[in-house]
Amino acid sequence: MARTKSTTTSTCFFLLCLYSSFYPSTSAPLFPREALPTNTGYLPVNPTTGSAIFYAFYEAQAPTSPLSKTPLLIWLQGGPGCSSMTGNFFELGPWRVAHDLSLEPNPGSWNRLFGLLFLDNPIGTGFSIAATPQEIPRDQHSVAKHLFAAITGFTSLHPSFKDRPIYITGESYAGKYLPAIGYYILNKNPKLPVSRRVNLAGVAIGDGLTDPITQVATHADSVYYSGLVNERQKLDLEKAQRELVELIKMKNWSNATNARAKVIEMLGNMTGLATLYDFTKKKPYQTSYPTFLNIAEVKKALGVNESMVFEECSDIVAEALHEDVMKSVKYMVELLVKKSKVLLYQGLYDLKDGVVSTEAWVKTMEWEGIEKFMMADRVIWRVKGELAGYLQKWGGLTHVVVSGAGHLLPADQPLNSQAMIEDWVLEKGQFGGK
Ligand SMILES: *[C@@H]1O[C@H](CO)[C@@H](O)[C@H](O)[C@H]1NC(C)=O
Ligand SMILES: *[C@@H]1O[C@H](CO)[C@@H](O)[C@H](O)[C@H]1NC(C)=O
Ligand SMILES: *[C@@H]1O[C@H](CO)[C@@H](O)[C@H](O)[C@H]1NC(C)=O
Ligand SMILES: *[C@@H]1O[C@H](CO)[C@@H](O)[C@H](O)[C@H]1NC(C)=O
Repeated sequence: MARTKSTTTSTCFFLLCLYSSFYPSTSAPLFPREALPTNTGYLPVNPTTGSAIFYAFYEAQAPTSPLSKTPLLIWLQGGPGCSSMTGNFFELGPWRVAHDLSLEPNPGSWNRLFGLLFLDNPIGTGFSIAATPQEIPRDQHSVAKHLFAAITGFTSLHPSFKDRPIYITGESYAGKYLPAIGYYILNKNPKLPVSRRVNLAGVAIGDGLTDPITQVATHADSVYYSGLVNERQKLDLEKAQRELVELIKMKNWSNATNARAKVIEMLGNMTGLATLYDFTKKKPYQTSYPTFLNIAEVKKALGVNESMVFEECSDIVAEALHEDVMKSVKYMVELLVKKSKVLLYQGLYDLKDGVVSTEAWVKTMEWEGIEKFMMADRVIWRVKGELAGYLQKWGGLTHVVVSGAGHLLPADQPLNSQAMIEDWVLEKGQFGGK
């Protein structure tokens, strides 16, 4: 059942809050006090059943504005069904789990200047609670409804949260969730009193799956022009992709999702790569945080019931969203780019939801700015004088290609990913101006 910490939360939302009073008995060596989130807990999505989204919040380390004005980033992992603790303890959180299961500070943390909120979404994922499997969302509208409840639940925990600009960020299959929650907020806000609105300021999608029908048709080209397959293999891949696109067009959703898995498997078989997430890696990404999160002491420190088993990704959630996977949310991005701001960023080495696959759908966007965007220069993006990648922007849309990175980009390029998110939010440096 949902365990809320309503009795303690309000005392602990400030930088100087004393963790010792918050977690009286957990000054355990595994989880040093300074590594504890500012706050964790559960945000109900359905108070009558007890289904709730687990959150871990880290206040900004060195904010440059009063906290009540300091931007708040929300991070959502993909999957479907993968826990945002991947982002937290492996990619962009302030403390990452090392291979010996110790926590080490992350110099590229995304909470240097901003508050950072990790949500295990949808329910049934990570430490979140699905009271029944039937309650797990099966489409993006239901995902967005739950997220809206969780976000408003979070911002009402403390009055100083109300006006903070909210940027919703995430990766991979969150390329569906982020447009969905953004779109939901834009449609919902006008119907709500000002005090209950969500102060959405932008969405940032990393290596995202957003418009599958366009994206899945790019794999053959990506691997062929990277020199990973020959022309005959390219034709085989194109055939499989065409069949997949046909299934999508027929709205044969479940078979389309299966057909996509087959294309991915073909890519893996043909290239022999350790991971399609990064064609330069000799081994898949090596994560140790799932072991760490299953230690009773760690669960206790995070305010999670010790009987919960942590899984990196939930098969039950993946199954619930199986028919959703190949559905497009491009039209939602088309609204967001007009009414808010959108960042699309990818690691240059990602072959799954990488640069080619993103550019393919972006250019099909129905948006009055698209031609100007397409004509805009792709400038060399530098961080501290060094090549960090490439940047293109016009109006509400920014596209960033990050060098030296794969799919789990903040893990590969912590400092550059931090520079990217900070400068995009604050519209600084190369991210400023038109
Ligand atoms: C869905 O696709 C499968 C092939 O993958 C096909 O056998 C089936 O007839 C299709 N169903 C519909 C309703 O088109
Ligand atoms: C297509 O989907 C149906 C159920 O929707 C399933 O029974 C069938 O095995 C699938 N076929 C393929 C080729 O995936
Ligand atoms: C990939 O290779 C495995 C092992 O050889 C094989 O069982 C599988 O059928 C192959 N998958 C595809 C889609 O070709
Ligand atoms: C933890 O979960 C178990 C099993 O679901 C339950 O019996 C117990 O009451 C829970 N403990 C707390 C403190 O919520």
